[in-house]
Amino acid sequence: MQGKLIVFEGGEGAGKTTQLRQLAQWLNAHPSFKQLKTQGIISGLVVTREPGGTALGSEIRHLLLEYNPTQPQEAMSSRTELLLYAADRAQHVDQCLRPSLKQGAIVVCDRYTDSTVAYQGYGRSLDLPLIHQLNDIATGGLQSDLTLWLDLDVSAGLQRTKNRGQIDRMEKNDLLFHERVRQGFGELHRAHSERIVKIDAQASPQEVASNIQQVIDQRLAEWYGSRGWHPLPKSA
Ligand code: TMP
Repeated sequence: MQGKLIVFEGGEGAGKTTQLRQLAQWLNAHPSFKQLKTQGIISGLVVTREPGGTALGSEIRHLLLEYNPTQPQEAMSSRTELLLYAADRAQHVDQCLRPSLKQGAIVVCDRYTDSTVAYQGYGRSLDLPLIHQLNDIATGGLQSDLTLWLDLDVSAGLQRTKNRGQIDRMEKNDLLFHERVRQGFGELHRAHSERIVKIDAQASPQEVASNIQQVIDQRLAEWYGSRGWHPLPKSA
């Protein structure tokens, strides 16, 4: 049975990585997950990310986030940036996502195609039809089954990243860039409200985690209900 691809998206400092880790722990302990895994209906849980979900992708991630030119004219152009994200994705889809899904895994991925629409499309103002075309080339048409958009006020998110210490090349963009990124995720959510679920990331980490678990439990019951997935009682 083909697995499922669940993606976490959001602006800077939205808490994706922490929430993704918590979700993995919760899923591994879920009785239905354990049961379906024992029965071979789900092959396992794969946690991955873009950019940087493969060895080649880690090098591309380093270029994208740490490239630091000495001369202004050597700055990375927006089209170069777009193509590097696409190259990372093509490798990730071929090496990790498709094989894992084919085996029947639940794949949880930190960022995917919607990040390119939001950051390079809305943030950098690159042509949206071109970005969709490039996403299609990089993924060969592989879409997420469910995307969780962790939405947070832009200034609050950027403050969180500053508190963490060093900021990367993307985080260094100005406030208006990050506002456009948020607007991009908002537009995507409105256009694909069944696939993209909005999660309020302003709440406490525990509250956010619990909201995410409810959404995922319900979707897994839709996908695997006939195979024996039973959602946990709401308070559990
Ligand atoms: P993060 O995964 O640690 O949040 O960092 C990845 C950065 O790359 C983040 O600033 C978002 C950005 N990004 C894009 O601009 N386009 C993309 O397609 C992806 C996957 C990420």
